[in-house]
Formats: sequence, C-alpha cells, structure tokens
Amino acid sequence: MYKQIGVLTGGGDAPGLNAVIRAVVRTAIKQFGMRCIGIEDSFEGILGEPKVMKLTTKTVSGLLPRGGTILGTRNRGSFAKIVDGKVIFPEMPIEEALSNLKKLEIEALIVIGGEGTLAIAEQFHKRGFPVIGVPKTIDNDLSATELTFGFMTAIDIATEALDRLHTTAESHDRVMILEVMGRNTGWIALHAGLAGSADIILIPEIPFSFDSMVEKILQREKSGSKFTNIVVAEGAREVGKEQFYLDGDKKTRLGGIGNYVAKRIEELTGKEARCVVLGHLQRGGSPNAFDRMLGTNFGACAVRALANGKTGEMVALKAGEIVTVPLAEAVANIKTVPVEGQLVRTARDIGISFAAPNEPK
Ligand code: F6P
Repeated sequence: MYKQIGVLTGGGDAPGLNAVIRAVVRTAIKQFGMRCIGIEDSFEGILGEPKVMKLTTKTVSGLLPRGGTILGTRNRGSFAKIVDGKVIFPEMPIEEALSNLKKLEIEALIVIGGEGTLAIAEQFHKRGFPVIGVPKTIDNDLSATELTFGFMTAIDIATEALDRLHTTAESHDRVMILEVMGRNTGWIALHAGLAGSADIILIPEIPFSFDSMVEKILQREKSGSKFTNIVVAEGAREVGKEQFYLDGDKKTRLGGIGNYVAKRIEELTGKEARCVVLGHLQRGGSPNAFDRMLGTNFGACAVRALANGKTGEMVALKAGEIVTVPLAEAVANIKTVPVEGQLVRTARDIGISFAAPNEPK
C-alpha cells in the first residue's frame, strides 16, 4: 500500500473538480490510511521548485459545492507547444518531474484532467510511475467514458441562458443566438438546445448552410412565431468554411461564430439578430448535484484502483457503473455527436433544425 499519493488538476477547470479532490483525500485517508499531497497548477507544481500542499480531511472540508479547483490548473503549461492550433506537450521534462516526486515522497499520482492532461499522465505510467486518471471536461468529448463531470452543470447553465433568451426574443420578435463551448463537439449545444427549446442547433459535426437557416426562420414567421432561438457551439462551421478563432492564425481560442451568424441573418432576413457568448460562465461556479455525485464516485474509485495495484488506467462511467479503462484508450479518440444518433433524430422529430444543407423537413 502506498504511504503517500499526489493529486493534481490539469486543463480548463470544470464544476466538480473540488468534489473529486475531496473524495480522493477522504478515501485515501479514511479508507486506506494514505497521506495526500496536492500538486498545484497542474504538472507545473512538480517542475522546478515544487508547489505542493498537504491535504487533510480538514483541508477539503466544505469543498463539495465549491467551483474551480483549490489546486489551481493550467491549460497550456510552460512545456506546451501550439502546432496547427493544437496544444501538444512534446517537452514535458519527465525526469525532473519524477525526481521531484521522489524528493516529495509521492509514490503514486491521481491526475484529474481532459485529453491533454491524461496524455501526459500516460507518460508517467510508461516510465513505471503509478498513475490513475480521472476524466474531466465540460465538453464531454472523451470517448472512453459516457460522461465527464462538469458537463451536466454546463448544460444547466446553458439551458437557463436559453430560457432567459427565449422570453426576450419573443418580446422583441428577434433572432437570439447563444454561443456555447464545445471545441470539436456539439454535446453542450445539443443537450442544452433540447432542454432549452432552441429552434436551430449548430454543431461542429453538422456543417450548416445559411439558406437552410433562413428557411427555418421564415417558416417560423409564416406559422406566427416571429422569433427564433439558435444555440451554436463555438466550433461549428458553415459548409466549406473554417472554424472561427479569436486569436487569428494561432488558432488556440475558438469563438466568434455566434456574432458572425447574427450578422449574416440580419443581412439575409432583415430581422434583428443578437448574440450572447456564454463563455466561462459555463465552467465557473458550483457543480450541480449530479456532478458532485459523479465527481465523488470518480475520486473514490480512483483511489480504490490505485490501492488495488492498478496503474495506467482511467476511471470511467459505463452503463451506470464506474470501471477503469487503459489511459491509452481514453486519449485515443474524441467522442463526437453521432449525426444519425438518437438525440439528433429526436431533435429533428420535434422540429429542431440543424441547418444542414439537406436538412430533413
Ligand atoms: O475544453 C473545454 C473548453 O471549455 C472548450 O470548450 C473551450 O474551447 C476551451 O475549454 C476554452 O478554454 P480557455 O478559454 O480556458 O482556454
């Protein structure tokens, strides 16, 4: 049994990170008598002069409803490079990290993060250092788990935003556009669009056409609904066009598609169109009950996996059970929205358009 384990959070924050940390610490101490060290600011905390904190049941008391991460996080650590708009981590100084872990007497790691963070975790495993991953991202785009914590809270926030936009859209006979996160996948837009009664959902998996979008807006006008609500994932794009970035050729910060759609709709229909970018409101603040529960379950299972001698694995939700899957499998592919899947069909069945060029009527 390990005497002392380390825990860190990496990548963009997500509601529920603190719930995982709390569960890790409580399980490690109460169930297995292990000590816990929190590594600050993702892997940065074990490079150079280590930045760590001792975690006790007292330190994590009251953490369950708290947003963010008490350990701090980094999206692109000092060793990350941007190649073709993708963050890659070619220069992770693994020797330095391993030597610091030794000095700190940390014998195993629990790494909480998305695709990029878990790929680094796998490097530790490959070097023989015990590690268990915990999947996190509001985008819910990790293929090896049915859900990541943070996603359900993000949907709640986006749904509430859509509800609020609905009443103002209706009052002013406007087209309202809500831009939500979702780098390469439309899970947040699709779920919130269904729950928040959007009329049009634009996702990266289904490139859209303005002809199709205008047709839907005008069809609504004819039937007496003089307003339209649109939810667009930041990574959505028009057929044959590129995604929109806020930082030009660097291509690290998606955004801007919502305002572009608003401008084009005004030009094409003469209707007033407004865009709201939900941005980091989706990531900040308290996790909902589901994410607290999932985070807690993930955290406790991750410690149990370590205690049972597992390494190089990630905890995952499959058919309602928490299982572990190889880290390599977890980071191999992202999970995109199946364009012929049940949710897309349900949306179309109830009259939501994806503004595809051949959108079924
Ligand atoms: O990966 C999660 C995510 O929320 C993406 O949807 C989004 O593109 C990205 O993080 C934004 O991260 P940040 O603005 O913190 O760099």
